[in-house]
Amino acid sequence: MDFIKVTNPYEKHIALIELNRPKELNALNLQLMGELRDTLKELDGDDDIRVIILTGNERAFAAGADIKQMADKSAVDMLMIDQFSTWDQIRKTKKPLIAAVSGFALGGGCELAMTCDMIIASETARFGQPEIKIGVMPGAGGTQRLTRAVGKAKAMEMVLTGRFLSAGEALDYKLVNKVVPVEMYLYEAVQLAREIALMSPVAAQLAKESIDRSFETHLDEGLHFERKNFYLTFASDDQTEGMQAFIEKRKPEYKGK
Ligand code: CAA
Repeated sequence: MDFIKVTNPYEKHIALIELNRPKELNALNLQLMGELRDTLKELDGDDDIRVIILTGNERAFAAGADIKQMADKSAVDMLMIDQFSTWDQIRKTKKPLIAAVSGFALGGGCELAMTCDMIIASETARFGQPEIKIGVMPGAGGTQRLTRAVGKAKAMEMVLTGRFLSAGEALDYKLVNKVVPVEMYLYEAVQLAREIALMSPVAAQLAKESIDRSFETHLDEGLHFERKNFYLTFASDDQTEGMQAFIEKRKPEYKGK
């Protein structure tokens, strides 16, 4: 891997992926995105891993798609390169994915953070979709996920002016889960991962799938989907263990079976 660093395990049941193109502010070129897609697929299939953390460095989570790689492309080149099929694969990650964001999360970087399930931000984090300033528009979910997260008015403002949100604003607009001092953002993401890693991975996966479904469907269909996944948890040993542990007043030991 040239552009990402993987620590597996980072600690028990937790894997860490670091975007690693620091000189280019982790600009997301095609190779980096391919490495990220392959790594997430591998970690998704690793029974020992329950939660994945994705981070950059203090200065940048990622400053967007690689502008230098795209600058001379035609529409047909872009169509044939089909970079977003990589993003579609990343979106299919079944395990909980936490973004630990410090510094710039711009364009594709903001979209990548929003593709994750939760975002822990440092006080220095800046979120934005500045594509309009270079004559294009978001292409990896910026008009869709940002609008669902922060609402139409703020999404319009961000996408049409390229203005950035500070970490505090991102918290106010419910784009991120928590904002902490810069020296704490990775630690805080790990704390969140630890808490989730103690739960049944079967239940976590089914619950994540159900929440994601709420963005795709109407309420009746969503409730139906939720109910089926709830019933499915009863096919797991973890359901037996969780309920038995409650009755016996002890901590459950989940196996992900
Ligand atoms: N692509 C390629 N290179 C990038 C980059 C990007 N998105 N962002 C930063 N870099 C490079 C710079 O070119 C520079 O390289 P050199 O040292 O070789 O000149 C290096 O990273 C450091 O950047 P700056 O010198 O610009 O650092 P700064 O602190 O002055 O500014 C910044 C930081 C405000 C983030 C600025 O770099 C910037 O505006 N970057 C572009 C942000 C952007 O427009 N992102 C959207 C990209 S399009 C997209 O993402 C489409 C999509 O939806 C998928």
